[in-house]
Amino acid sequence: METQLWREILEPYRLAVDELVVKFNHVKQQYQDARMYSPIEMVSGRVKRVSSILEKTKRKGVDLSQLEEKIEDIAGIRLICQFVEDINTVVQIIRERSDLEIKTEKDYITKSKPSGYRSYHMIAYYTVQTINGPKRLEVEIQIRTLAMNFWSTIEHSLQYKYREHMPDDLRMRLLSAADAVDALDNEMSSVRDEIMDAQNSNRKKANIISDILNNIESLYYIANEREVTKIQNEFFQIYRKDDMKLLTRFNKQLDIIAETYRAQNPRSQQENI
Ligand code: GTP
Ligand code: MG
Repeated sequence: METQLWREILEPYRLAVDELVVKFNHVKQQYQDARMYSPIEMVSGRVKRVSSILEKTKRKGVDLSQLEEKIEDIAGIRLICQFVEDINTVVQIIRERSDLEIKTEKDYITKSKPSGYRSYHMIAYYTVQTINGPKRLEVEIQIRTLAMNFWSTIEHSLQYKYREHMPDDLRMRLLSAADAVDALDNEMSSVRDEIMDAQNSNRKKANIISDILNNIESLYYIANEREVTKIQNEFFQIYRKDDMKLLTRFNKQLDIIAETYRAQNPRSQQENI
């Protein structure tokens, strides 16, 4: 096929991947903005390389004219979760989206592939807008944990290196590594509550500190400099004590101080906008 033609075929898939990466990153961001734990930890995407597409059409005996109907993973999105439990949440989020229509789902989590590969796959229809009008295409979404992703990345490069000739002992070692990954995921699940508590308190602390810094910044415009410097020094002292209760109380006091200044001087508030 001509290079120009490949570009024409692949361009809408590029758009789909770019859009979906932005959208799923926003899902993560929304959880974080709502100060909630995000079931999505990382998002990535890729358009299949022409050489891989050609290799796959050959392997599957697909005629190039049927490329787009038969090759479901030209556009690929990968969603990485911290815990196995998050995978179900992410699957549910995808099922409920109105911009994705599920074609098929494959659960290689409950039952791994003979290689030891584990992941949850969804093939979905997604529509992009092109200068020739809307184009509905297929995307493959792979959902897996950080540990599963680690395993499959390594295994994939070994597969690439050995092609069909992976030595038996290496295959066995990969299988036992897959068991280890499974055990690791289970172990992580069993301490999930504790890990999440720790993450939550870290996040809460980061949020309070950023609230305090915002408050101090806004006070720069409405209070006198000496007072703000005093408040800032007070903040550093409390910050060093590393005590959430003190930080929370300090933040509330700042809120009140900032409110009082604003009430005394409503014009300066507008000037800040
Ligand atoms: P292909 O495996 O791509 O021919 O597609 P398929 O129709 O057989 O679908 P399947 O769900 O088996 O695989 C889709 C994708 O999952 C692959 O393109 C890989 O990205 C990934 N995958 C499947 N099996 C394995 C595996 O054993 N190891 C690794 N590393 N990845 C795998
Ligand atoms: Mg396969």
